[in-house]
Amino acid sequence: MATVELEQPITGAPALSDRTIMKALVYHGPGKRGWEDKPRPAIQDPGDAIVRVTTTTICGTDLNILKGHLPVVTDGRILGHEGIGVVEQVGTGVSEFHVGDRVIISCITACLKCDFCKRGMYSHCRRGGWVLGCAIDGTQAEYVRIPHADGSLYRFPPGGDEEALVMLSDILPTGFECGVLNGQVKPGDTVAVVGAGPVGLAVLLTAQFYSPAAIFMIDMDAKRLAVAKAFGATTVIDSTDGHAAHHVMELTEGAGVDVAIEAVGIRATFDICQAIVAAGGRIANVGVHGKPVDLHLEKLWDRNISVTTRLVDTVTTPMLLRVVRSGKLQPRKLVSHRFAMGDIMKAYDTFGNAAKQGALKVILTNGPVE
Ligand SMILES: NC(=O)c1ccc[n+]([C@@H]2O[C@H](COP(=O)([O-])OP(=O)(O)OC[C@H]3O[C@@H](n4cnc5c(N)ncnc54)[C@H](O)[C@@H]3O)[C@@H](O)[C@H]2O)c1
Ligand SMILES: [Zn+2]
Ligand SMILES: [Zn+2]
Repeated sequence: MATVELEQPITGAPALSDRTIMKALVYHGPGKRGWEDKPRPAIQDPGDAIVRVTTTTICGTDLNILKGHLPVVTDGRILGHEGIGVVEQVGTGVSEFHVGDRVIISCITACLKCDFCKRGMYSHCRRGGWVLGCAIDGTQAEYVRIPHADGSLYRFPPGGDEEALVMLSDILPTGFECGVLNGQVKPGDTVAVVGAGPVGLAVLLTAQFYSPAAIFMIDMDAKRLAVAKAFGATTVIDSTDGHAAHHVMELTEGAGVDVAIEAVGIRATFDICQAIVAAGGRIANVGVHGKPVDLHLEKLWDRNISVTTRLVDTVTTPMLLRVVRSGKLQPRKLVSHRFAMGDIMKAYDTFGNAAKQGALKVILTNGPVE
């Protein structure tokens, strides 16, 4: 068996705990999850780091996994792809991070060397991509193994706020890259975001970098729509009556919107986007779809539109980190609930019943809250 040398803790630091068991949120097939004992992760490759997770959160994608929409996630997998933590061990191939460093964990693992990484498409890294909490064990645990740590971790800035910066793991780059950049939001555009969950709200926050003329937010959850209004939506539309597209067409005097952003991941919301996109417009899909949708080319073939899809690359994370640090983007306001990591089962119930609970991002902390 190959042995991998580990960087030892700095002198005077406490020795690594010899506890070999940790607690983790484990997926056991559709609808089944448990907070269970699992072996603590160990370094497997020289590029790995072991991170002690101090803050994590739950994503809409985790709910999609629990619905059984992502068969690639199998029984026994530790979920979670967002987090902040402290580096506990590093393999000999890690040069940028050391034991004791505080880090932001990216939801995307990037080797930085393959052809996809070299063109900034980390999402399709040949040795990584979206693997955390999907193909390998994730961050909803006391410890997580991060492969290709140099490309997959970001330094946590001095004086940073864990609750704000954990939004950089996934939802801020997702909303910005898959929604705003792919939708090519420009000054003066009319934009509609279908879905006012954390990802849709991240689209709303980052679309405002470009001063669009109007941003319509569409959801069925009145509480989330109220938050959207407070975060700068021009108009919010409750789609419970099934007439959201009609309302958008009225608001735009029949023209439709320049950019329609799908941030839910179901047929009904992709249909709304197709019904409201203006001639020459863009549909940017963000939602993870577990089932087929209809593409209405019989209506769209002559509309000069484009449809984009994207798995977040997280290439904009360093830029977004600078904007958050400047105070111009305040993702902490997406936090609605706080739990100790040991109460993650309750946190899932809360996030899974978001409309009833008024939930947005639920923060889970391990150890003392700072
Ligand atoms: N492309 C990527 O890289 C990527 C990354 C992260 C998340 N995602 C996906 O983005 C989507 C949103 O994530 P989230 O964390 O905000 O999820 P979420 O489940 O918290 O939010 C989804 C929102 O959609 C609303 N909704 C449901 N049905 C609707 C309908 N018929 N009309 C209008 N609104 C409706 C819900 O009320 C909810 O507010 C998910 O599909 C998630 O998997 C994609
Ligand atoms: Zn996610
Ligand atoms: Zn790569």
